[in-house]
Amino acid sequence: MAVQNYANMLRDFVEERSTGFAIAVAAGVGLVTLRIWLAGGVCRSRVRLDGKTVLITGANTGIGKETALDLARRGARVIIACRDMSKADTAAEDIRQKSRNRNVVVKKLNLASLQSVRQLAKDIEENEKRLDILINNAGIMMCPKWTTEDGFEMQFGVNHLGHFLLTNCLMDLLKKSAPSRIVNVSSLAHEQGKIHFDDINLDRDYTPLKSYQQSKLANILFTRELAVQLKGTGVTTYCLHPGVIRTELWRHKMPTSTLLKNIISLPFIVFMKTPWEGAQTTIHCAVEESLANDSGLYYSDCAPKKPAPQAQDDQAAKRLWELSSSMVGL
Ligand SMILES: NC(=O)c1ccc[n+]([C@@H]2O[C@H](COP(=O)([O-])OP(=O)(O)OC[C@H]3O[C@@H](n4cnc5c(N)ncnc54)[C@H](OP(=O)(O)O)[C@@H]3O)[C@@H](O)[C@H]2O)c1
Repeated sequence: MAVQNYANMLRDFVEERSTGFAIAVAAGVGLVTLRIWLAGGVCRSRVRLDGKTVLITGANTGIGKETALDLARRGARVIIACRDMSKADTAAEDIRQKSRNRNVVVKKLNLASLQSVRQLAKDIEENEKRLDILINNAGIMMCPKWTTEDGFEMQFGVNHLGHFLLTNCLMDLLKKSAPSRIVNVSSLAHEQGKIHFDDINLDRDYTPLKSYQQSKLANILFTRELAVQLKGTGVTTYCLHPGVIRTELWRHKMPTSTLLKNIISLPFIVFMKTPWEGAQTTIHCAVEESLANDSGLYYSDCAPKKPAPQAQDDQAAKRLWELSSSMVGL
């Protein structure tokens, strides 16, 4: 009887508010659909990486850590190259436990120091038998006008020049391990980017966004020129936009107050990708078998995408290569 009464009350309640309920259900379905759409593509490859070695930069947090975890689960030896050794050790232990793969190694790398990049490359060349996948993932976004140890503008120095030097120094090992892959994590931000050849460190007019856009455009031009130079070697190159993801990348744009940070972050929790979702396109480029013969392309949501016209400029790609070589002393 009590149950019957309760059911009747509930029915009356819903009937009286039928419009409101319909709107709430539609909004809920819409939000879930939007969230699924925002999550983007998923890497479907089940390929194993037993016996393969992967090096990934900046893998102590964010999408780099999620990528490292996925590749460790596939059985690879995973080298995470990070600047903060205590954060890196914690991340590596977490990856080992979750993947049940003990073959996860931490190496020191500060991309804002050419000496550190050379040191890591030397260590890898001397001590690793092979390198099957190099993932240039580490990045810094929209920081104040800082300079690297060698005097280069920080975002261009870390996001492009450090990775440019690292890749070149590891090239012999990558060629020896062919078929091998180089994956550069770029961004949609390249679309508004321009390479300021006459003021590469943006000394005349620095803005944090302009610098980030330039560095992410450089990632794509580097990938294209690498593909040209590596043709026929069995080393293929890929670059990508991972999506807009809830990671620590936004740290220089966030207020210092934790309360304010939490309030600002709220809408992002719904509308940004999780690090796992954000790692999918990197993983796809690193392992998907059907991409084995592709090289130099740009991907988004686990599918090829045309980058902005300035990112398809092969003359600019060559010019950037020459400039970068002279800046890092190659
Ligand atoms: N998150 C997004 O919405 C988004 C969108 C488009 C593209 N991306 C790209 O995705 C990549 C990964 O970003 P994320 O979102 O995962 O950011 P994140 O959580 O901030 O991770 C960035 C990683 O880079 C490392 N790093 C920064 N400066 C370094 C240096 N000088 N030397 C060595 N490592 C350094 C960081 O180390 P510390 O922890 O020591 O700082 C960290 O491990 C970046 O290339 C970024 O441009 C991200």
